Amino acid sequence: MRTRNAILPDADAIHELIATYSGDGTLLPRTLAEICENIRDFTVVEDQGQVIACGALHLYGPHLAEVRSIAVHPDSKGKGAGHRVVKALLQEAERQQVSGVCLFTRIPEFFAPLGFTMANREDLPDKIYKDCLACPKLHCCDEIAMVRGELPKYAFLHQHHIGRGLVKSEA
Ligand SMILES: CC(C)(COP(=O)(O)OP(=O)(O)OC[C@H]1O[C@@H](n2cnc3c(N)ncnc32)[C@H](O)[C@@H]1OP(=O)(O)O)[C@@H](O)C(=O)NCCC(=O)NCCS
Repeated sequence: MRTRNAILPDADAIHELIATYSGDGTLLPRTLAEICENIRDFTVVEDQGQVIACGALHLYGPHLAEVRSIAVHPDSKGKGAGHRVVKALLQEAERQQVSGVCLFTRIPEFFAPLGFTMANREDLPDKIYKDCLACPKLHCCDEIAMVRGELPKYAFLHQHHIGRGLVKSEA
């Protein structure tokens, strides 16, 4: 198995992997266009030349990054590929000197051994503005927020959301 940064020719394989788990809501769906635009966020694991796992690190800013789109091919589960992807994404977060990394999951047991602990979704407004407000499950979310490192003390929100660039988390 080899873990490496994704490149554009991996986009189709990543798209298929994510689609395998987005039909039932396990993962957020990603279009091929979105994957291509954000290909530099992705890490893949290859086995005998085939992409068998993927994951992405979305950077919000120096205060926060998010691990997302973690998927392992159904035939390749249980061989360590999932943890390999997350560890590579955490190394990238460290290289970027991000102070905290968050994620949203229904399987916290998978992430706890990698240093993630449970958190409140409300403490992560970047995520709420990026994804949650448009989600049909906004008020009945069944995902658990987890954080590794420092909880963010502020958030970067886009102009069209609030008309200001920077807010405190408590705002
Ligand atoms: C969850 C998933 C990424 C695990 O990938 P994997 O390659 O099978 O996991 P690994 O082999 O790296 O497992 C590492 C450890 O996590 C445990 N683990 C694996 N799947 C788990 C799960 N669903 N729940 C809890 N723990 C799990 C393993 O038992 C192993 O423990 P060990 O180190 O004590 O032996 C994979 O099953 C998958 O793609 N699932 C569907 C998509 C998904 O749920 N993504 C995560 C959404 S946040």
